[in-house]
Amino acid sequence: MALIKGPHGVRGALRVESLTDDPTRFVVGSRLWPEGDARTLTIADSTPTPRGLLIRFAEVADRDAADAFRGVYLEAPIAPRKRGEYLWHEVVGTRVEDRSGEVLGTVRELLRAGGGEVAVVDGPRGELLVPLVRAFIPRFAPRRGVMVVDTERLGVPAPSAQGATAKAGGRRGDRRGTTPAPARTASVPRRSAAARTPVAGPVLEVDILTLFPGMLEGPLSESIPGRVQAEGIAAVRRHRSVDDYTFGGGAGMVMRPEPVAAALEAVRRPGSTVVLLDPAGERFDQGLAFELAAAGHLILICGRYEGVDERIRGLVDREISIGDYVLSGGEPAAIVVVDTVLRLVPGAIESASVEQESFGDGSPGGGLLEYPQYTRPREFRGAVVPEVLVSGDHGAVERWRLREALRRTLLRRPDLLVRRVLSAQERELLAEIDVEGEPD
Ligand code: ADE
Repeated sequence: MALIKGPHGVRGALRVESLTDDPTRFVVGSRLWPEGDARTLTIADSTPTPRGLLIRFAEVADRDAADAFRGVYLEAPIAPRKRGEYLWHEVVGTRVEDRSGEVLGTVRELLRAGGGEVAVVDGPRGELLVPLVRAFIPRFAPRRGVMVVDTERLGVPAPSAQGATAKAGGRRGDRRGTTPAPARTASVPRRSAAARTPVAGPVLEVDILTLFPGMLEGPLSESIPGRVQAEGIAAVRRHRSVDDYTFGGGAGMVMRPEPVAAALEAVRRPGSTVVLLDPAGERFDQGLAFELAAAGHLILICGRYEGVDERIRGLVDREISIGDYVLSGGEPAAIVVVDTVLRLVPGAIESASVEQESFGDGSPGGGLLEYPQYTRPREFRGAVVPEVLVSGDHGAVERWRLREALRRTLLRRPDLLVRRVLSAQERELLAEIDVEGEPD
């Protein structure tokens, strides 16, 4: 949003480069946050000059204090702030409790993971990773200093069943120096190959209402979806219960509401999330997948392409489309949604795999397309593996990967960059990128 270039004069003024089009950010009285710092700076005086802004902050009294801010990026709140919106630094330090009021710890930091945000909580039970999605957090009031977590949904065992899992967080690697990497063994207990613990029931149950259950059979019984069900982490059931159509005044075959309502009555329970798959729904993405993974019980209704009776929309919690094209029915969309969601259920796969992939965590490539990957042989038809990847210099490899992820995203999906809050290192690497050039 703004970059502090350095001190100006002896009374603590700073030269600031604005990185926003919104000049109201710099009016007297506005508060700004130095990146990675819990302090707030309040603008006491602000003067635009041809060489940028001269700003005096109430908290910065002299040149020595000003000098410490040289090269620091300033962040501002997104204005206007809506209810429930928060800045990361406001969440850090928040006390975390379970529903009974037992203190689970304090938020140490926030990370981006799997397209969403995760709070890292330190406390007597060890380290907990809590995805910041409503389904896990019945009360979220960081500005009041408290956050209540639904430990049952999150899969955190009761205090008596603690012990081994509390320690599972282990030490966190520091992959990039400034941004610690998420723990490979997250302390949100997961039934991974390494630590299988018996659990009461599946973390996620999915009921799919369809006219063609056979269409879902193969894709959902193989690979990760198949394994996740076999291990009891999730249960996916198909129901051939949406089975009646009528003509809708020339508009083609339209799905009738009564069979859908009857099917819903049979499977719905308090807390179920009912989704209609429909090309007019909200666009499915990784963030939405995270929310659905935390739903506990999902009911997916597969419509046919001709459409559904409008009153069916009143029976569902949300409508989801997997893209701007029309499928012959919602079944392929259900497969996409279920496949994406099942692998996010705690215990389905190694958390590190989720964190490192495209649209995943920001350390280093999250929210970006994936960096180029290479395996053997070192040379294939004249194309060689970049030297840096075989150098053994882990720092250089990480930097290269982040830069190439940025390059690929810039060239193929610039929209992802526009939405992203870039770190100082990402800005620096972006400036290095020659868009005409090849990875080097
Ligand atoms: N049904 C038909 N087309 C669809 C789409 N694009 N997404 C979800 N459901 C659909």
